[in-house]
Amino acid sequence: MPTRRDFIHYLCLSATLPAAASAWATPRLPSAALRFTAQPHLADATHHVPPGYHAQVLLRWGDAFLDVDTPWSPATQHATDQARRFGYNNDFVAFLPLPAGSGTSTHGLLCVNHEYTNPHLMWPGLTRDALAQFMDAGRTAIELAAIGHSVAEIRFDGNAWTVERGCYNRRVTADSGVELSGPARGHRRLRTREDPDGTRVAGLLNPCGGGKTPWGTVLIGEENFDVAFSGRTTDPREARNHARYHVGGRRGYAWWARYHDRYRLDREPCEANRYGWVVEIDPYEPDLAPRKLTALGRFKHEAATCALTPDGRLVVYSGDDAQFEYLYRYVSHGRFDPADRAANRVLLDDGELAVARFLADGRLTWLPLRHGSGALTAANGFEDQGDVLIEARRAADLLGATRLDRPEDVETNPADGSVYVMLTNNTARTADAIDAANPRARNRHGHILRLLPPGAPGTLVDHGAEAFAWSVFALAGNRADPNHGAAYPGATDAGDWFTCPDNCAFDPAGRLWIATDQGAAWKDNGIADGLWAWGHDEHDRAVFKRFFRAPFGAEVCGPEFTPDGRTLFLAVQHPGADGLPGTAYDNPATRWPDFDPKLPPRPAVLAIRRDDGGSIGD
Ligand code: FEO
Ligand code: CA
Ligand code: CA
Ligand code: CA
Repeated sequence: MPTRRDFIHYLCLSATLPAAASAWATPRLPSAALRFTAQPHLADATHHVPPGYHAQVLLRWGDAFLDVDTPWSPATQHATDQARRFGYNNDFVAFLPLPAGSGTSTHGLLCVNHEYTNPHLMWPGLTRDALAQFMDAGRTAIELAAIGHSVAEIRFDGNAWTVERGCYNRRVTADSGVELSGPARGHRRLRTREDPDGTRVAGLLNPCGGGKTPWGTVLIGEENFDVAFSGRTTDPREARNHARYHVGGRRGYAWWARYHDRYRLDREPCEANRYGWVVEIDPYEPDLAPRKLTALGRFKHEAATCALTPDGRLVVYSGDDAQFEYLYRYVSHGRFDPADRAANRVLLDDGELAVARFLADGRLTWLPLRHGSGALTAANGFEDQGDVLIEARRAADLLGATRLDRPEDVETNPADGSVYVMLTNNTARTADAIDAANPRARNRHGHILRLLPPGAPGTLVDHGAEAFAWSVFALAGNRADPNHGAAYPGATDAGDWFTCPDNCAFDPAGRLWIATDQGAAWKDNGIADGLWAWGHDEHDRAVFKRFFRAPFGAEVCGPEFTPDGRTLFLAVQHPGADGLPGTAYDNPATRWPDFDPKLPPRPAVLAIRRDDGGSIGD
């Protein structure tokens, strides 16, 4: 369990800040030299790491790590078997040490989200454009078993990582029992025929990014849950609600509704309200059901990034990853107690959700989603706090929050407590809709905002403050192409460029690492997705350098470092899929990572290390 020392270390992740943002101020990071050889801007069928590094394929779709021993074969897939194996499309990755709270870097639990499925790459005879006719009940059940979360015990033996069959190993799927928790538990709009009490949901949908709590649990963001639902409801209130989340019609996985009434909006108009939450999983308690945290609001959650206020309250930052959506912050009422792990669970049920408004003068204000306050009243259809949380997007609309260019991951800088927000892109933003926080029309390349919580010199910053300062940290894109309008902080002429920031992490030395997701745009940009590091070169100039290149068609997720910074876990999601219209199981653009003619491409988590065992990036 986390100790008081861990708590103090966690607080030390926040330090002092200048009180006001200055545009283009370059934050200084400690010990930030980048000594690896940058990877070239290319795209091909496999992954690349710098010379002197190696990448081990640790867990792939279908790998056994529970109580099955037969080799995985795509020809003999079955739902009950898939539910005992590593799932599809790995996204968020967390490493939690064993024993809990020990801080070790060689033994732990790898916790991995499985966001969604690509059926055309999972079964022969399918194409992306003609899936529905081939997706029978058995294949649908396999899809639901391939989504969710995996917990796997792993150990480094001095040479390589191994997956162990420990008692913590676990799969959570789209059919697993998940508790509803917090203010909206039991709410009338969360009740269904299967669950008349509104307290227990079937599984996770589209678990994407996430975070770790100070007490060592994992937070999972349910993102594009709308793809599960088909049809329409005649209930005007829920129809309006569904429209705000793009739920309904015949999009996404329309065949699921053939086999499960819960995905039919005409039969179960409230089922979709039971997805789009942050979910807490305790990897150290495999018998404890995951729980959906309604206090944190319902939207297409990406990150769930934790911080602590100086007086010990828990803060969770979360982006709503869609064009023109918002950045949210949750602050608990109670305080974190490093000596009482079970009591800390309450922090995620009792607190206040707020949404960000970015002002042009460099200030940011947090607008509380509080029932009865401002426009959040019965006159506007909010009868209680449950309504506000279920319809968080509409509440944020009424509060006048700032519509952002796809907010994805969020991380806090261990050096100064500042908060980095990745905005992937937004090609739908028109010139008359730009603002200070979203300064580019038709934003193809995305950007990064840096938020500065207040804090006097020598004190901890206050992540719970009502107002922050903010600045643009980087406008992504090719610096050599004036049409991109790219801008990077500091003297970065010698550096690299990237596009479409998605996931990010700070390493133990304080360097920022940024993973990208261009979707199909990698073809236009001519570069595969990858991982970049921001630090300093040998001349002490700020630089971005590409560390990792993914196989084409893949995005890069994680990233997650062991506490010693010597292993980097990266999740390669949907290899050979995006931007490759002809790719399919029978003729895939790549068969990464096995390159076996009998196997399709398989999403996989890599464990990357330096050949000499040193710290990544040094
Ligand atoms: Fe699943 Fe926003 O990426
Ligand atoms: Ca993402
Ligand atoms: Ca992250
Ligand atoms: Ca993404």
